[in-house]
Amino acid sequence: MITGAGVSAESGIPTFRDKGGWWKHYRPEDLATPDAFARDPHTVWSWYDARRQGVARAEPNAGHRALARAEAAGCRVAIVTQNVDDLHERAGSREIAHVHGSLWQTQCTADGRVVDDRRVPLPEIPPRCACGALVRPHIVWFGERLHEPPLARIAAWLAEPWDVVLVVGTEATFGYIHEWALAAKRRGACLVEVNPRETSLTPACDTRLPGPAAEVLPAVLPGQSTA
Ligand code: APR
Repeated sequence: MITGAGVSAESGIPTFRDKGGWWKHYRPEDLATPDAFARDPHTVWSWYDARRQGVARAEPNAGHRALARAEAAGCRVAIVTQNVDDLHERAGSREIAHVHGSLWQTQCTADGRVVDDRRVPLPEIPPRCACGALVRPHIVWFGERLHEPPLARIAAWLAEPWDVVLVVGTEATFGYIHEWALAAKRRGACLVEVNPRETSLTPACDTRLPGPAAEVLPAVLPGQSTA
């Protein structure tokens, strides 16, 4: 599985490049880069605090739940997600690699320590570490390298044979998403895109299931109770 913002869209979480997406109203350079944070940590944290509040209010949708049910029914389901929300976890999925980090972790700008922080709303903006230094979201910003731990998990998963790789709700903007999907396909996986629209990855897919994830995933994944 490779998922993007589209899998959380039906939980009310805005996407980025879709109509109504974040990058239709704001510039990434102003909210999701190290320079933006250095220039104006208050604005950057105001945006992340609002996103944290939105995710805390949201619920996993039928697409998230269908993935968790397939796993509970005995399927091996490994999820590479670009999403920084925790809706896959809250639906019950257990094998998840967050390639862009998590809304619920912060990192001290002085010593790099990463901690869980689920306070909603944040008591102060921008939040500070116990040491007094600013903390930043533990999220990969434009121009930054991906975090090592999820990359190591993904490399291990790609060394295994998979029957199917579902690419769900992502524009596949980043080359590494294509790389991982094609690497799995080269090892014999059937590459399936679940998205209402075609994307740059569509031509490489063996098939496309056009439609919203919350409708398509429960219809195609094994282990879905009919009740
Ligand atoms: N079900 C499935 N797909 C959907 C749905 C839905 N209900 N709604 C929208 N989509 C699709 C859109 O057609 C689009 O292809 O989800 C995709 C969302 O694309 P983006 O908004 O670009 O999100 P994503 O691909 O996850 O972006 C990747 O870019 O800005 C960064 O860090 C950010 O993680 C994000 C990354």
